[in-house]
Amino acid sequence: MEKPLTQHIVPGRPPLSLKEYEQVGGYQSVRKVLKEMTPAEVQTLVKDSNLRGRGGAGFNTGLKWSFVPMGDDVPRPKYLVANADEMEPGTFKDRLLLEGNPHQLIEGMIVASYAIQADISYVFLRFAYKLAAQEITKAINEAYEAGYLGKNILGSGYSLEMHLHTGVGRYMCGEETALLNALEGKRANPRAKPPFPQVSGLYGKPTIVNNVETLCCLPHIVNNGAEWFKGLSRNKSEDAGTKLYGVSGKVNKPGCWELPMGVTVRELLEEYAGGMKNGYKFRGALPGGASTDFLVEEHLDVKMDYNSVAAVGSRMGTGTMIVLDDQTCPVGFVQNLQHFFAQESCGFCTPCREGLPWVEKVLGSIDNGTGKQTDLNILDFHTKYLGPGNTFCALAPGAMEPLQSALKYFREDFERHIHEQRCPWRS
Ligand code: NAI
Repeated sequence: MEKPLTQHIVPGRPPLSLKEYEQVGGYQSVRKVLKEMTPAEVQTLVKDSNLRGRGGAGFNTGLKWSFVPMGDDVPRPKYLVANADEMEPGTFKDRLLLEGNPHQLIEGMIVASYAIQADISYVFLRFAYKLAAQEITKAINEAYEAGYLGKNILGSGYSLEMHLHTGVGRYMCGEETALLNALEGKRANPRAKPPFPQVSGLYGKPTIVNNVETLCCLPHIVNNGAEWFKGLSRNKSEDAGTKLYGVSGKVNKPGCWELPMGVTVRELLEEYAGGMKNGYKFRGALPGGASTDFLVEEHLDVKMDYNSVAAVGSRMGTGTMIVLDDQTCPVGFVQNLQHFFAQESCGFCTPCREGLPWVEKVLGSIDNGTGKQTDLNILDFHTKYLGPGNTFCALAPGAMEPLQSALKYFREDFERHIHEQRCPWRS
């Protein structure tokens, strides 16, 4: 593929130093936006490129920026936050970008900050990403020394501060308003939306929260244009660009690859992940981390883009697929995920706090052979009760996605556990 976005990541070696990064075109987009473009022009370019948020929700990035109040009389400071709190199960794409090329992220953050005229920017980093923390700290210092950050960047009159903030390892902090509370030193509960952070975010000031992969696309869009970015995708339409896709599970070559948006599930599984391991058969896959609905055999030719995956009742989410094989019990698989979600609930809203542990418990009893037929009704009820609109944020509805689709596609396995009073995979 022409000009992959992550072109400067070399597996097995430290990331490029500032000098090396500059030699391969690094920070050219900063020079371009500061010298040749107005903030409004950068916003329009990114809106035209159809870049959609790579954190999982797929919201149009330029459109999100356009909600930030602009002008001299708006509340200051304005903030830009890179959401690097990557904790979605099975998801490790941002980690590669953070460890592999931190300057690319910083460059993208400067472009985004300039577009919304942010004064201060933060990288909100997952606690466990220790190597990334080291590399980002080093890269931020280098960028300050070179004049890409700080006061009057490259003599343009535009100034930007950048800081690294590490979380304490809570999934909840990936939700943008919980993240902002955590950044303010408060408990990481989500906030009511609206107001959206674009208007009232960090310390009540206009704030944009963008995912790491989203921000890493920006230097390339500025350097090559909106049409180039759209042309990278197989769709040439709404779902533009390339995407970091991943596959984990019992496949021959689990990994993460940058590919045109719209490769099929089958291509990812067979061509890139090398097919199922000997002795294992494909039963299904969660396309984008754990908080998505299963895709099964009939979906193998679905394109992995936001619209196509949504059209078959799931979500592309983070694009990093978790494969379920025929030798893994689907009930135990889903119970394990519900354990994670129940543990990670912030406890702020009642349905999520009380519902998720109950779901986990009911699944546990089915899994260990003490389940009853009525337990399936309880699970069915919860998929609706904890669904969209009934909880404060997307955590519980996300948790219900693998459950509701497992009940749909693997129902006979749940029933077998109940009828045989045992897990068929264990004995
Ligand atoms: P969302 O759809 O509510 O919002 C996405 C973005 O669009 C936010 O920045 C929001 O401010 C903006 N937005 C949405 N509607 C808007 C409106 N009407 N006006 C202005 N701005 C608007 O989704 P949310 O709850 O932020 O994220 C859920 C996603 O996060 C899920 O898809 C899930 O897969 C993903 N996720 C990813 C994780 C990771 O580690 N990458 C971890 C957990 C969840």
